[in-house]
Amino acid sequence: MLLEKMLQSQGFGSRKHCQQLIKNGAIAIQGEVISNPKHKLDLKDLTFTVYGESFDYREKVYIALNKPQGYECSHQATHHFSVFDLFDDVLMNRGLQCVGRLDQDTSGLLLLTDDGQFLQALTHPKKHVAKVYRMQTADPVRAGQIQQLEQGVELRNEAGIFAATDIILLAENELQFTIHQGVYHQVKRMLAAVGNKVERLHRQQIGALTCTDLEEGHWTYLSPEQVELAKTRMTV
Ligand code: URA
Repeated sequence: MLLEKMLQSQGFGSRKHCQQLIKNGAIAIQGEVISNPKHKLDLKDLTFTVYGESFDYREKVYIALNKPQGYECSHQATHHFSVFDLFDDVLMNRGLQCVGRLDQDTSGLLLLTDDGQFLQALTHPKKHVAKVYRMQTADPVRAGQIQQLEQGVELRNEAGIFAATDIILLAENELQFTIHQGVYHQVKRMLAAVGNKVERLHRQQIGALTCTDLEEGHWTYLSPEQVELAKTRMTV
């Protein structure tokens, strides 16, 4: 691939802007400044620097964010911060999107990518990717409520039954369970449907991928193995 095209694909701006960066001597590969925009590159394990800052070439990006409360998953957040505020322009220029959404007041594992196929694979309703949530509830969780969640509840304006699996009562007012769909406010609505209320919600896991070692507000690139873990279909 040509150097100018590679830089553009990585989010460094328009082809013209990338040509200018190269001509300005901003780009080096293995310590050697390359000033020809048409320089041909082998992309395998390519790293390069832009004004001394090091970057790995990535065909697509897969990111895990431990989302803090108070951040919206939309580009034009109105009343809160946007999760996209946590990423620099280079990543944003690549067209980063959230893989599904978490509410503003929900924390935990959120994936972001510029790979449309990955996004589709994880969010398509027919794929049933498992998501594990931990929550604090307004009232003590009763055995009958757990039973109802296991059997499944109806949600207004949604077709079908919404059930939780792998339910663990962690404390009187603390519950963890897995869902296999992803409709609007699903967990909060499921708890409301059994006569309780979610006070605090945290996503622990998507597929077989967790983010336990990521500090809140921090993000990391996923390895190819982690990308596969996220896609792992955990059957009900
Ligand atoms: N279910 C909810 O109610 N909220 C979320 O943010 C995620 C799942």
